[in-house]
Amino acid sequence: MKNEVVIVTGGSSGMGKYMAKKFAHEGAKVVITGRDEARLQAAKEDILEGKDLQVHPIVMDVRNIEDVERMVDETVQKYGAIHHLVNNAAGNFIAPTEKLSINGWNTVIDIVLNGTFYCSHAVGNYWIENGIEGNIVNMVATYAWNAGAGVIHSASAKAGVLTMTRTLAVEWGRRYGIRTNAIAPGPIDRTGGAEKLWESVEAAKRTLKSVPLGRLGEPEEIADLAYFILNDATYMNGEVVTLDGGQWLNQFPF
Ligand code: HXC
Repeated sequence: MKNEVVIVTGGSSGMGKYMAKKFAHEGAKVVITGRDEARLQAAKEDILEGKDLQVHPIVMDVRNIEDVERMVDETVQKYGAIHHLVNNAAGNFIAPTEKLSINGWNTVIDIVLNGTFYCSHAVGNYWIENGIEGNIVNMVATYAWNAGAGVIHSASAKAGVLTMTRTLAVEWGRRYGIRTNAIAPGPIDRTGGAEKLWESVEAAKRTLKSVPLGRLGEPEEIADLAYFILNDATYMNGEVVTLDGGQWLNQFPF
């Protein structure tokens, strides 16, 4: 990945920030995107750790196609190319389905499903026009194929992203040599998911108990996996790799 260009959407916090950090420290030129300039700048400082690395923040919203197109143009202007895209930007909150407002549903679908499509479509077209065999990693969740009680908007959107992953793997893999894969993280410490979805002590205890390995994952573990998929796993295409300590398989107490 040395000198290659990676875009990480939602790169100002959580897994996005740790993935960007890993890529930058491996010598990549990294673009991090997010909606808040101050948070992006703070993330950049965290990522650099005082070193002379290549990290460029772009303020944008994945829901806005003009922003997405500007992200592609600005990245190419700044770093000369794009080689990898990590669709990490997400939105989520817990709401019982019957209480979820239509705007709440639309908001999460817009960020997760539409945002992933907009970024993949724009970057993919750039790759096709320039003959670049790029790589996409999409962040999903195990409830993309399981049940997401309390997060029907996110689960439905992630299911769509998983199908998008497999569809692009076939369509763009065959025609353009573009690889598309996904990561399904379980409960990961120091992420937006951990802050939002397991905020009460009770919820945190329940979560820990549900993981056979008895601990949360570390964002660095997700970053290592993303790096492996993008950099090393050159025959992996259309795969979803679960990193959840065995949580989703743990249906019966034993
Ligand atoms: C009920 C809520 C709500 C809540 C928002 N809404 N939060 N409803 N409970 N806690 C409703 C609002 O009332 C509104 O509907 C609609 O959703 C849009 O809310 P806004 O605040 O106007 O939207 P916006 O400012 O665009 O913010 C989007 C957001 C926000 C998703 C709501 O939380 C956000 O920006 N999140 C980004 C970071 C994030 O969520 N990270 C966690 C990702 S974890 P009405 O009807 O009132 O207008 C993840 C996977 C975890 O994705 C996997 C675990 C295994």
